[in-house]
Amino acid sequence: MARGKFITFEGIDGAGKTTHLGWFRDRLAVKVEPAGRSVVMTREPGGTPLGESLRDILLHQPMDLETEALLMFAARREHLAQVIEPALARGDWVLSDRFTDATFAYQGGGRGLPRDKLEALERWVQGGFQPDLTILFDLPPDTAGERRASVRDPDRFESESEAFFTRTRAEYLRRVEEAPYRFAVIDSTRSIAQIRNQLEEIIASL
Ligand code: ADP
Ligand code: TYD
Repeated sequence: MARGKFITFEGIDGAGKTTHLGWFRDRLAVKVEPAGRSVVMTREPGGTPLGESLRDILLHQPMDLETEALLMFAARREHLAQVIEPALARGDWVLSDRFTDATFAYQGGGRGLPRDKLEALERWVQGGFQPDLTILFDLPPDTAGERRASVRDPDRFESESEAFFTRTRAEYLRRVEEAPYRFAVIDSTRSIAQIRNQLEEIIASL
């Protein structure tokens, strides 16, 4: 069977990923399951037992910025080796809640880690491997902050400032300019129904 496809969801916290992820998975499954393929849904940091342990540390323990970036990529290496690469090789499709664009956006844009260090880690961990499609939920940080207001017990990232998310969003948009063929950008100011129409069109075009 031909290799499966790798699709990632991205966006600043509060932009609407979680609202659409399960729905998108179900719609995608309708398309690929008749061909004997499954949709594997996973997330970063996480996706493996080791990755989930690292997620817990990354989301809750203060640490040096470079340690943070290294742990993100360590979890990613394990995720690629144990979950993503085997699934794609057997013909399944993989839908991941975040991947490397998040590291560029959060550790690079948000926290200011120089891009060349992230590019070196990206080459090490994934060579030239990239998602076939990245769906970026784009929302102004003030609106995302309002939508996050109901989150109880915010983690180390969710409790960041609006300025942090302004830089994070800008880095996501810079990544889109760098590789526009790989991205679909969703205007998350629109209604959930309007966004689902756009997502249906994206699925139809796959
Ligand atoms: P994320 O997973 O990107 O952090 P969520 O999907 O959890 O974001 O959405 C954050 C909040 O915004 C939730 O309360 C959700 O119900 C609400 N929300 C999501 N999409 C929309 C939308 N298009 N319009 C208005 N509110 C939305
Ligand atoms: P997220 O995926 O948004 O999960 P939830 O919706 O349950 O809060 O949370 C993961 C957090 O980790 C998010 O704030 C972004 C951050 N993150 C990075 O900073 N760098 C990365 O490389 C990844 C994958 C995530």
